[in-house]
Amino acid sequence: MTQTDPNRVLIFDTTLRDGEQSPGATMTHEEKLEIAQLLDEMGVDIIEAGFPIASEGDFAAVSEIAKQAQTATICGLARANFKDIDRCWEAVKHARSPRIHTFIGTSPLHRAIPNLTMDEMADRIHDTVTHARNLCDNVQWSPMDATRTEWDYLKRVVEIAIKAGATTINIPDTVGYTAPVESADLIRRLIAEVPGADDVIFATHCHNDLGMATANSLAAVAGGARQIECTINGLGERAGNTALEEVVMALKVRHDIMPWSTGVDTTKIMNISRRVATVSGFAVQYNKAIVGKNAFAHESGIHQDGMLKNAETFEIMRPADVGLTETNIVMGKHSGRAALRSKLKNLGYELADNQLNDMFVRFKALADRKKEVFDEDLVALMRDTAVEVGNERIQVKFLRVICGTEAPQSADLTLTIDGKDEQVTATGDGPVDATFNAVKKLFPHEAVLQLYQINAVTEGTDAQATVHVRLEQDGRIATGQSSDTDTVVASAKAYVTALNRLLVRLGKTAPDADVKGISYKDVG
Ligand code: KIV
Ligand code: ZN
Repeated sequence: MTQTDPNRVLIFDTTLRDGEQSPGATMTHEEKLEIAQLLDEMGVDIIEAGFPIASEGDFAAVSEIAKQAQTATICGLARANFKDIDRCWEAVKHARSPRIHTFIGTSPLHRAIPNLTMDEMADRIHDTVTHARNLCDNVQWSPMDATRTEWDYLKRVVEIAIKAGATTINIPDTVGYTAPVESADLIRRLIAEVPGADDVIFATHCHNDLGMATANSLAAVAGGARQIECTINGLGERAGNTALEEVVMALKVRHDIMPWSTGVDTTKIMNISRRVATVSGFAVQYNKAIVGKNAFAHESGIHQDGMLKNAETFEIMRPADVGLTETNIVMGKHSGRAALRSKLKNLGYELADNQLNDMFVRFKALADRKKEVFDEDLVALMRDTAVEVGNERIQVKFLRVICGTEAPQSADLTLTIDGKDEQVTATGDGPVDATFNAVKKLFPHEAVLQLYQINAVTEGTDAQATVHVRLEQDGRIATGQSSDTDTVVASAKAYVTALNRLLVRLGKTAPDADVKGISYKDVG
């Protein structure tokens, strides 16, 4: 172990790489820069900013993040081939502290994909890690699917990577298969048995398929790992990754039995969690640990009574520890511009004067329809304002639906398409179906609706609904979301937003268009 403090655990955030890989979570360039800045400010040690070979967009984002980062090490991902590694270096080399992360799948299932024998793969690992180390003195190597790799082979390839110059060895539980006891044991045995293990940092990278990612990561630390790989809100493919906020808060709250610490400023957690939820389109589940809407809410009479007498009866951490402010001023139609500015600042949004004016108009329109405008309403409004300017070929101009017990339900819709208003009436099985049919009549397309989800932003019959829509066509995925007190209007806008984004993505060609178009099997 090369660190000076043996109890310091490095936090490696991969929201912008592994997190962004989850279907539909694609972020814009500006959004990636913003999230990277927030990660840097909160004290994350290493930011995996993307997969530079995957697309021009990924390359540009990683390069820009590398230039802007103040303290964090900036890392890029590369498969086990020289082209990927060179491209990765071109992007990260601008950072004050750059890192190349190269990987290859070492389990029997993953070895079969590039059709390499064990010896051929071992040679490939030696050559690619050596190549990376010749470019950069900070190299991370990962045997993908390590937890399903034969023990002897895992030991052998880890030793090769260390000898070739890797400075961090990451042990991924790629499919979320391991369990805490096994996770601790695996790292402990690798450190004990692999020659040279004491000279590198071992990292843990856990997926959450069995809901054990956070427990597995902490167990790996108990086994000797000193870097945890994680994402904000646990964003990531399938069931996601270890959630940054969970490991960091667990280490803070249970320092008595887990004597390891991180450099993360936990008071910045809530803000970044909200921003990631907004820009990725992946809402945080209400009962999610630490960052869920209900994580600090006390509903039952007994709990409320206990809380009023002594908050510690039902809270093991204070809301302020994760950056939740208790001064919850509710905004309404009499609130002015200054109050709105200050409220938005508390929620993590600093607006220029013209943006504030625009937001104020939207806020007033909502306040006219809704008695009280809560924090969540404002976050939803902000999200809807942050549209990709210039990419909106289609806009919802007018919608009226007829619904009720008498079928068929119908929608009278006007869309502005490429600057021209077009009107149609369509029927369907319910008002939302009728509305989506109307969009299809006005703008025929092949996209398939993969997800349609409604959440109430706050309580009450006048609450805004946030609608999430995910569309898929030719392997390209795009999400849209919108909030309105009228659920059908929110649905129409969310659908049209997803469609606009999909059109942009379909207009580009692989592999430049989207990181999800790239295949991990391409090692050569
Ligand atoms: O889960 C995984 O194995 C990965 C690797 C690319 C490190 O994300
Ligand atoms: Zn992963």
